[in-house]
Amino acid sequence: MAISSPFTPGDLPRVLIGRARERTRLGDLLARVVTFGELAGPPVVLHAPRGLGKTSLLRDTEDRARELGFVTAWVACAKGSPMLAELATSVRQALVDADILDERTRRGVLATVGLEVGVPGITLKGELAPGDAPAPPPAAAIAGLERMLHTFAASIRDRGGAGLLVLIDELHAAPYAELGILLNAMQNLAGRRADNPLALMTAGLPSTPEMIMRAATFGERSEFIGLERFDEPDARRVLAEPATAVDVSWTDDALRVALDIADGNPYLLQLVGDATWQAAAPEAGAKLGVAAVGSGERLMAGQLAAMCRARWDSASELEQAFLGAMADFGEEVVPRERIATTMQRESRAISVPRARLIDRGIIEAAGRGKLRFTLPGMATWIRDYQGG
Ligand SMILES: Nc1ncnc2c1ncn2[C@@H]1O[C@H](COP(=O)(O)OP(=O)(O)O)[C@@H](O)[C@H]1O
Ligand SMILES: [Mg+2]
Repeated sequence: MAISSPFTPGDLPRVLIGRARERTRLGDLLARVVTFGELAGPPVVLHAPRGLGKTSLLRDTEDRARELGFVTAWVACAKGSPMLAELATSVRQALVDADILDERTRRGVLATVGLEVGVPGITLKGELAPGDAPAPPPAAAIAGLERMLHTFAASIRDRGGAGLLVLIDELHAAPYAELGILLNAMQNLAGRRADNPLALMTAGLPSTPEMIMRAATFGERSEFIGLERFDEPDARRVLAEPATAVDVSWTDDALRVALDIADGNPYLLQLVGDATWQAAAPEAGAKLGVAAVGSGERLMAGQLAAMCRARWDSASELEQAFLGAMADFGEEVVPRERIATTMQRESRAISVPRARLIDRGIIEAAGRGKLRFTLPGMATWIRDYQGG
């Protein structure tokens, strides 16, 4: 009987591969809370383009923290939605689930927090336009958030837990004013480190670090961790290990072709693995061959095209011209000078579209003065799209 696919494009991986350095670092920060009952240090910010494994690593950290006795609260930001109100709801739910606070304390704390964090006009303020001076975050909201985090973290510790772990995903989509409130509250809590057994770990697109540094002067003290594509050994493991677990293997040639298609991108590795699997419908003991990878590649073409299309459509006209010039070059890594020449502009004149495309994770630096697409296959898609 055919076995269902062990690959997980767009979902948490069944087997989390690699990220050893990052996992060690995140583990050390959690250990600090466990051992000393104090703040884990400045906020952690995982940053990378889409599909590189930020959410997967954040969820892995949440699992490990729970095993260490943390109570964890998860927030996923979305453009136009308030973050702090959701944070308060999520922390409250976590405490209810963990059975930490008695009803009266919980309601007491939440009443103040609800009032102060939910000050009208704060939660719904939009993004800051480049060059705008950020308004100072309102002191009452900072104090409210600070009190909530302190009270809840300390109560968890009092009841024998390790502390509170707050995880915020898609942080780049957080309302700007709320980000300032959060960073200020964390900074104040750091001043009384020993009283606050808690950690804040976040993830977002490459624009996130700059956004944090603009939201608060001390934002630069956050711990920024960039995620890269997988190197060859780890990429092999992403394809091989989930298959091996259900007694299916790859021929050497098939693995080679699949690795070339995905080029170390975690999402594409899962996608090519999954598509090959669907094409082959393997039974236990079977080997995935080159033909199956070829059929798989055709199966995944629609998905890949939709992703390229979405990235292309999100770009302005000037940005599209920039992307077109990159695609024209024909090789994966494109010298910046070449893009300027193709666009018939001075190098300086293309720095704005370049920065915006990097911020949104559509392209990335690949060595000094060189760029590449973050999604393998995007250059081909653009050439086809513009040619036909
Ligand atoms: N460490 C990993 N090992 C195996 N697969 C991974 C790993 N990290 C991410 N993936 C896979 O890559 C894809 C994107 O992961 P995700 O965490 O959603 O990325 P992001 O949050 O950066 O967009 C998912 O299909 C996931 O299964
Ligand atoms: Mg994600």
